[in-house]
Amino acid sequence: MEYRYLGRTGLKVSELCMGTMQFGWTADEPTSHEILSTAFDSGINFLDTADIYSRWAEGNPGGVSESIIKNWMQKNKIPRHQIILATKVRGVTGDGPNDEGLSRVHIMKSVEESLTRLGTDYIDLYQTHWYDENTPIEETLSALDDLVHQGKVRYIGCSNYPTWRLMQALWASDKHGISRYDSLQPHYSLVHREEFERELADVCRTFGLGVIPYSPLAGGFLTGKYRAGGKEVISHRAKGVQRYFSQKNWELLAVMENLGNEKGGKSISQIALAWLLSDPVITSPIIGPRTMEQFHDNLGAAGLRLSTDENQILDDASRPQKTTS
Ligand SMILES: NC(=O)c1ccc[n+]([C@@H]2O[C@H](COP(=O)([O-])OP(=O)(O)OC[C@H]3O[C@@H](n4cnc5c(N)ncnc54)[C@H](OP(=O)(O)O)[C@@H]3O)[C@@H](O)[C@H]2O)c1
Repeated sequence: MEYRYLGRTGLKVSELCMGTMQFGWTADEPTSHEILSTAFDSGINFLDTADIYSRWAEGNPGGVSESIIKNWMQKNKIPRHQIILATKVRGVTGDGPNDEGLSRVHIMKSVEESLTRLGTDYIDLYQTHWYDENTPIEETLSALDDLVHQGKVRYIGCSNYPTWRLMQALWASDKHGISRYDSLQPHYSLVHREEFERELADVCRTFGLGVIPYSPLAGGFLTGKYRAGGKEVISHRAKGVQRYFSQKNWELLAVMENLGNEKGGKSISQIALAWLLSDPVITSPIIGPRTMEQFHDNLGAAGLRLSTDENQILDDASRPQKTTS
């Protein structure tokens, strides 16, 4: 397992980040523990979660994957310093008017709840899950900066920010001399390129932000289990994945399959992850396997890199359509 600096920081994280959104949702707790233990034994030190996972599922109060991580760490006596814990704040956590957003009030309450659920006294990377158009960025950043000074948070990052909001945040941190976002968690994969590539990639490169892309397998589409005219896939993710069904993407899967065969029998998902791992702007794709079998498949991408020619083949097959303005 290779370890990479998270952007300009001195923090080293594994080249694969273990996503945990599926824990307590599509993966039960025993399976989640087994995946976490094998990930840890394989050298993965970087875990991503959020205070709202998986509140959208019936009967799930949210924060369940944070609790599963705590239970696993306690049961297996995992030394706290050997894990880089990343969680998020922003989503709805209750019924009150202040139970969501990036106000000082909600951040200060949410961090305490996440610390309790995670069973720790500090979070390595505290991320704003998506922007809050109703709260001044200075209010959000100064609350996060206070948490850094209180020792409750080590680094701060953001997710799902458009370029101008990210630039505004970097500028505000610089202007006020306070902690700045050191990572971005964007939605990025071979079938969802434009959002990150249009401008965010250049911002991250220029200002030294770590990049930890989520949904690197497009929720399962980039595994090849969904096929044109193929049999129905039974999965909680199947409905969301349908957005990728297009002639262009079926052809992309065929190109990836060929490339995998030429590289000695690599799976389509390993090729999808290797494409991200071969890009110097990317720190660690966040994987989200639901079973041990899926985990072992995803893990097979560790250390896998593509040559310039191989990258070109994938680039040609997946390039976003040019938009005219
Ligand atoms: N910041 C954000 O807004 C945001 C949003 C989403 C996710 N995330 C983070 O990113 C992580 C990963 O996201 P994701 O779950 O969307 O990642 P993904 O890698 O795109 O999708 C993972 C899903 O694909 C399927 N899959 C994976 N490997 C497979 C294999 N070898 N064979 C067949 N199916 C396979 C499984 O779904 P099924 O088996 O159920 O079909 C699995 O749960 C999350 O856990 C979370 O930490 C962040």
